[in-house]
Amino acid sequence: MAEQKHVILTGDRPTGKLHIGHYVGSLRNRVALQNTGKYDTFIMIADQQALTDNARDPEKIRRSLHEVALDYLAVGIDPAKSTIFVQSQIPALNELTMHYLNLVSVSRLKRNPTVKTEIKQKEFGESVPAGFLIYPVSQAADITAFKADTVPVGDDQEPMLEQTREIVRTFNRIYDQDILVEPEGVFPPKGEGRIPGLDGNAKMSKSLGNCIYLSDDEDTIQKKVMSMYTDPTHIKVSDPGHVEGNTVFTYLDIFDPDKEHVEELKQQYQAGGLGDVKIKRYLNEVLQAELKPIRERREKFAADMDYVDKVLMEGSARANEVANQTLKEVRDAIGINYFS
Ligand code: TRP
Repeated sequence: MAEQKHVILTGDRPTGKLHIGHYVGSLRNRVALQNTGKYDTFIMIADQQALTDNARDPEKIRRSLHEVALDYLAVGIDPAKSTIFVQSQIPALNELTMHYLNLVSVSRLKRNPTVKTEIKQKEFGESVPAGFLIYPVSQAADITAFKADTVPVGDDQEPMLEQTREIVRTFNRIYDQDILVEPEGVFPPKGEGRIPGLDGNAKMSKSLGNCIYLSDDEDTIQKKVMSMYTDPTHIKVSDPGHVEGNTVFTYLDIFDPDKEHVEELKQQYQAGGLGDVKIKRYLNEVLQAELKPIRERREKFAADMDYVDKVLMEGSARANEVANQTLKEVRDAIGINYFS
């Protein structure tokens, strides 16, 4: 059998700027994998997926497309090593989606736990757009078009990978082929992949207004940190405090490389005598150190949007070459290349 090169395909919906939840959930992993040099890496801005529930506000998606591109470049996704591209510029993805839709039942789509949760959150009820319900199939097209075997994403995306593997198996069985590849997810280490919001809510999300953005300036980060949810029973500095469910300590666990120091602080806090202001100031230093170089790179790229557009255009051209080749193989397998 021919040696299969490892391929990464991943991406994000552009519905706003990316925040530190995206950073710990997937961006850190993507940069690390890119830098191993072992993968052909494709990173996609999923504007078309974003439109499935924002069709009436395309301007928001257009604006966010550039914000996400800047966030990618800022965290260290390097166009010399990774192909960054825009989903809507790759027509082959749409045709692949149409072919795959015939291999999936409506009831299977309605069972997808991530989509189900989103339909509830967005209060769609029976008016859920058909395009939204089927976005896991379009995501299968994204992944398989590049024959990706590796998909670094947040753990909420596992149902999309399961759906993709089912489609790949069904396709390869029906058409007696092995052209499509089953992907595996790459998730952050346990306990470090999901960051709660500033308010202690389990999820950091734009709609909850509890985010620290990669583009936030120094003062904004400090203000946000000083407002964070801690332990409501820790009133006086001398009171013993709780570290479980205490957002400041959860962030320290995720961001502070000095694990021993975090342990010491936890012990002091639990014993009583360590104040919230003091630990927040410490967390602020840790976060500023991590986010400053990211913000500075972001500002540098933001000053040259022509360059950013060029990256997206060239990336999309390369992505089209790869996706068109896969589409040709898929059409051959189904037997609908009648005239060639
Ligand atoms: N569903 C992802 C999100 O919510 C975006 C996405 C679209 C994606 N297609 C993908 C991620 C393919 C990984 C692989 O942001």
